[in-house]
Amino acid sequence: MAVPDLSATPLQDLYSLTGRVAVVTGAGRGVGAGCARRLAEAGASVAVCDIDPTTIETTVKEIESEGGRALGVVMDVSDAAAIQQGVERILAELGQIDILVNNAGIFPPCPFLDENDEHWGRVLGVNLDGVMRCSQSVARHLVARGAPGVIVNISSIEGEKPGTAGAGAYVTSKASVTGLTKALAIELGPLGIRVLAVAPTLVNTPGVQELMPMMEAAGIGNLIEALRVKVPLGRAAVPDDVARAVTFAASDMSMLMTGSTLYVDAGAMTV
Ligand SMILES: NC(=O)c1ccc[n+]([C@@H]2O[C@H](COP(=O)([O-])OP(=O)(O)OC[C@H]3O[C@@H](n4cnc5c(N)ncnc54)[C@H](O)[C@@H]3O)[C@@H](O)[C@H]2O)c1
Repeated sequence: MAVPDLSATPLQDLYSLTGRVAVVTGAGRGVGAGCARRLAEAGASVAVCDIDPTTIETTVKEIESEGGRALGVVMDVSDAAAIQQGVERILAELGQIDILVNNAGIFPPCPFLDENDEHWGRVLGVNLDGVMRCSQSVARHLVARGAPGVIVNISSIEGEKPGTAGAGAYVTSKASVTGLTKALAIELGPLGIRVLAVAPTLVNTPGVQELMPMMEAAGIGNLIEALRVKVPLGRAAVPDDVARAVTFAASDMSMLMTGSTLYVDAGAMTV
């Protein structure tokens, strides 16, 4: 079944997510919180999913204070049973799911000569297995409901253009997410589900700030500052730079797009 031709649809309707339900993983802070807020601003009811109940509460309150609708859900994307329970709760409370943003991700560095099963499994378990499981769960719901939907995967330019040492597991996870995005686009497109990836450059988030002392101690320096002179657009990303691209990808504005990666990179992939 072909996707509709929206040439006659007004722009504001193409951007509107009113009546849709979006699930954002890792939405307690950083990129995920930014995505949840913009999707809610566009009209979606948003399930704010994270492992951290405190930050979930913060994001939910922000969305509500901005006039949006949000449901906080504690959900560990590395745990298959937790995903199933989380999705069941979202369906019970919000009625449906139309949009999934696979954002939850971790990036603990580890030199390759010290790499081990625990670290490797933990990074891949969240960044890759989590994307696979959440996507499968939401896709099954969409197909059973006979509804169209969109899955947006937050990958990284690191998956295609690694820039720092000690990121083997992370780079592998993000490169795999790009591959999975294409594979799912082929398989789910005929079922009415579009699958896109958004790949940011370095984003100034709490997760990155937590890594700063380690990077400075390792002599890597301040990567956020370094980007000012390195990239054509002169700065690192902030969460909202990514959130706007995600909102575009999740909306009908991108109706004929699937399988591709949208770079939010300040030009980093070009230089
Ligand atoms: N910050 C960057 O420079 C950057 C660049 C490119 C891509 N990304 C990607 O963006 C995404 C978000 O990164 P961020 O910088 O906002 O990170 P962050 O650490 O600031 O926030 C990540 C959130 O995910 C949650 N989370 C962690 N493990 C989880 C799990 N198992 N289940 C559910 N939630 C979990 C955390 O509690 C936290 O709220 C990640 O996928 C990351 O790889 C980040």
